[in-house]
Amino acid sequence: MASWRRVRIAPSILSADFGRLGEEVAAAEHAGADYIHIDVMDGRFVPNITVGPLVVRALRPVTRLPLHVHLMIVEPERHIDAFAQAGADLITVHVETCPHLNRTLAQIREAGARPSVTLNPATPLVTLEEVLDQVDLILLMTVNPGFGGQEMIPSSPDRVRRLRRMLDERGLEGCAIEVDGGINEETIPEIVSAGADVLVMGSAVFGAEGGVAEAMRRLRALL
Ligand code: DX5
Ligand code: ZN
Repeated sequence: MASWRRVRIAPSILSADFGRLGEEVAAAEHAGADYIHIDVMDGRFVPNITVGPLVVRALRPVTRLPLHVHLMIVEPERHIDAFAQAGADLITVHVETCPHLNRTLAQIREAGARPSVTLNPATPLVTLEEVLDQVDLILLMTVNPGFGGQEMIPSSPDRVRRLRRMLDERGLEGCAIEVDGGINEETIPEIVSAGADVLVMGSAVFGAEGGVAEAMRRLRALL
């Protein structure tokens, strides 16, 4: 399966033990994670509330891995600077929350982080079309955001294939496709074959039997 490219793993702290968050992140780095995925929820765009810039700041000295912040919040432009100052390396915004998407992506870059964009499973890919050349990582949600431990929506591999085609047609082969939600040992073969480059995983890493190190070893073996 896809041995010609290195698929990267981004454990999502949503499923970690928050009482031992620093240790959990250090364990993920030690076990070979490529990025740390931080899910920010506001209780408005999605039903849950999670964490803010304080937690990004607290994790910054714990790991050398890039911190990817996934903003599931309305009016993300009000908080982008705070997340960048707290140490976010990459900030992902939802197209559904950004009426002025060009401006918001530029704001992320000006704040010193890499901009990235994402969309819900029912949002057409065409909503990304005008900003494809402004990002080098696109996150495709493979569940409706808001909760960990959901099942991947079955149309996801086809969406990954269609996005890959859109990127290839525009000569943007270097743009990475990341997937988030329901990614685990069962869904990896199909989603990676479809063209996913970065796998966000919460419950498959932090909630897994045998602990983080054992989960990462199994996942790496599969990839
Ligand atoms: C869901 C979040 C995900 C979540 C994935 O809204 O964006 O990052 O942590 O969790 P799993 O991997 O358990 O589906
Ligand atoms: Zn996420």
